[in-house]
Amino acid sequence: MLNILSLKKIMAITERLRAATKPIHIQLDHAFYPMIQQVKSTADYLELLKMFYGFYQPMYEQLDQYLNDQVVNAWSQRRKPSWITDDIDVFASASYYIKSSNTIPTINNIYEALGAFYVLEGASMGGTIISKKIAEQIINDGRGFSFLNAYNKENPIMWNKFLNTIDNIPLNEEQQEEIINAAKNTFITFHHWINQAHGISKRQQLSTGAGY
Ligand code: HEM
Repeated sequence: MLNILSLKKIMAITERLRAATKPIHIQLDHAFYPMIQQVKSTADYLELLKMFYGFYQPMYEQLDQYLNDQVVNAWSQRRKPSWITDDIDVFASASYYIKSSNTIPTINNIYEALGAFYVLEGASMGGTIISKKIAEQIINDGRGFSFLNAYNKENPIMWNKFLNTIDNIPLNEEQQEEIINAAKNTFITFHHWINQAHGISKRQQLSTGAGY
């Protein structure tokens, strides 16, 4: 009979990642979905975009130190923070301040970078569901969804190319653990961030009429 150690050896790292992060992804979806349901105007959507930027931008600053086109397929085309600012510019009427998350995980090496990026990039898989829901709830001309729609019809292709990247890197058990722990940590800290940022945004809207 297979023991856990030999099972780990035959599972692709991406299968292990999916299995290890499934419960945290479900928890995040449950917390996040009500926030999406509360997006009823372009101003609400703007706050959601700022919340994403506050996490993605400082994360990408770290990821850029370890990832490039040689490590990850089409890294230079996977630039989520600039898509978020493009979307923000559609809705922001004046200059704005975006608070950065102070809970982002520290990335120390290429393995942790890959684990963290698995989470940030994977969000595009749910992104199309989220963008459809928001588009039903707000009135706009259809612009401002480049982040959530990401690669559009190419989403599954881009996702699979990224998964192949990780599966083709020779990894020992310690490196695999680093990838998995970084992914878990990214899910958890993102979850903390959305709770915190959502709270700030709601409080400020109540007191000043403006978002964070
Ligand atoms: C309510 C919000 C969300 C919904 C409804 C949702 C839904 C989904 C769905 C349906 C998939 C599977 C897509 C497929 O296999 O074709 C998926 C995958 C994924 N999502 Fe989410 N998601 C949400 C939020 C997020 C967020 C905020 C993140 C990260 C910050 C995230 C990270 C991931 C990852 C990493 C995967 C890939 C899992 C794998 O390896 O197959 N999701 N999501």
